[in-house]
Amino acid sequence: MDNQSDAKQIDIKIGNRSASCPILEGNEGHCVLDIKKIAQELDIFTLDEGLRSTAFCKSKITFIDGEKGILLHRGYPIDQLVSKRNYTEICYLLMHGEIPDPEQTKSFNLNLKQHQYLAPQLEKLFLSMPDNTHPMTMLMSSTCALASCNRTSSTSPDLQLAAMELISNMPILAAMCYRRSVNKSFIAPNPELSYSENFLYMMFGDNPSYQANPTLTKAIDHIFTLHADHEQNASTATVRLAGSTGTNPYSSIAAGIAALAGPAHGGANEAALHMLEEIGSVEQIDTYLEKAKDSNDPFRLMGFGHRVYKNYDPRAKVMHKTCHDVLDTIGEADSNPLFKIASALEKIAAEDEYFVSRKLYPNIDFYSGITLNAIGIPTNMFTVIFALSRTVGWVSHLIEMNNDPDQGLIRPRQLYIGNTQRNDK
Ligand code: CMC
Repeated sequence: MDNQSDAKQIDIKIGNRSASCPILEGNEGHCVLDIKKIAQELDIFTLDEGLRSTAFCKSKITFIDGEKGILLHRGYPIDQLVSKRNYTEICYLLMHGEIPDPEQTKSFNLNLKQHQYLAPQLEKLFLSMPDNTHPMTMLMSSTCALASCNRTSSTSPDLQLAAMELISNMPILAAMCYRRSVNKSFIAPNPELSYSENFLYMMFGDNPSYQANPTLTKAIDHIFTLHADHEQNASTATVRLAGSTGTNPYSSIAAGIAALAGPAHGGANEAALHMLEEIGSVEQIDTYLEKAKDSNDPFRLMGFGHRVYKNYDPRAKVMHKTCHDVLDTIGEADSNPLFKIASALEKIAAEDEYFVSRKLYPNIDFYSGITLNAIGIPTNMFTVIFALSRTVGWVSHLIEMNNDPDQGLIRPRQLYIGNTQRNDK
């Protein structure tokens, strides 16, 4: 192989056949090698299990520098966005590429409210589910069912309409998941309220002691914003893959929800809180750290480590502060037992050779569970809230993919290692 990176291409020669693969430069981050010619000219596929080194598509939406701990949405750093904008402005930014001006914000919010609708068929669907159904399962099923409540095809311009319907309806579905799981009647959306306020209202609004609290509303808005998009993670890649077949957008989003549910992805926030509860006290931390370091023990520190971040997850920094603000508001800043364990665990791990050498730092899920828990949201709803927040990222990727003329059906290949042809005698 002849490396000619100066010439912005790599030439691969096998015998008398050769393939010239151009090196493409993005606006930030890694260059990529366009490998199409390897298959076309040399009849060889490439292997990258887990897609650890493979750029899955071209995208303009989100950039992550995992080494430096940077996350940009449409070029803007996440900490700036969280401090200056609210979630629906982030939705507009992700979908349209620019921060909305006040008029655009007003009409976007109005548009979202116009799509808010608690369809009677959905109520029936929720009520038909068995009592012990996990809220993520409810969310998956009801997201698919939205397709028949809102008839939309996957092609432009209806995809834009479906995107707005999905973003608008997700808080309704999420609140219904919660209300069904605790056998309470559903609460219809209140168009007077902001997106985040409305979500908390649909969750808890029938409680006589319920009163919108600005810190808690801001915290949930932060949680939505911090989870809004994260480039080509497992669920977004799933949404793109499903969407590339031309299936309807609701089904693509439901596929994303399925991928998100796993503990290595969105399910980690639930798992992180369970882990902190299991650790139980600061004195037990060392025992659990030893388990996490033991390669023969399946236990891992949940909310720690990341496929891309080899530095502190920038979302975790904001989440840590939001968590503290929420605990302060409810009078638990110095006494919350889970926060105490998490803070001590983070400190000990930061000085432990195992975690330092592997660049394992807290990710967003380490403190998001404690925050949600303090707001009064049950653990089995954590991943649902992640899905609600990520819906805008998923639909933005679907829209981007739909507008990309180079992007057809996504259909990977494999290295076959099974039996060669044999006869059934
Ligand atoms: N606890 C203990 N050891 C760990 C952990 C952890 N949480 N994460 C990675 N390691 C070790 C791993 O055992 C391996 O050690 P060795 O080199 O000795 O074999 C090394 O670090 C590299 O790990 P890896 O499995 O190659 O890393 P990965 O990129 O495949 O895994 C991960 C990324 C997120 C799946 C993993 O860090 C993990 O399981 N973390 C816990 C689950 C979690 O918090 N997930 C949420 C991710 S953030 C939310 C989101 O964006 O979806």
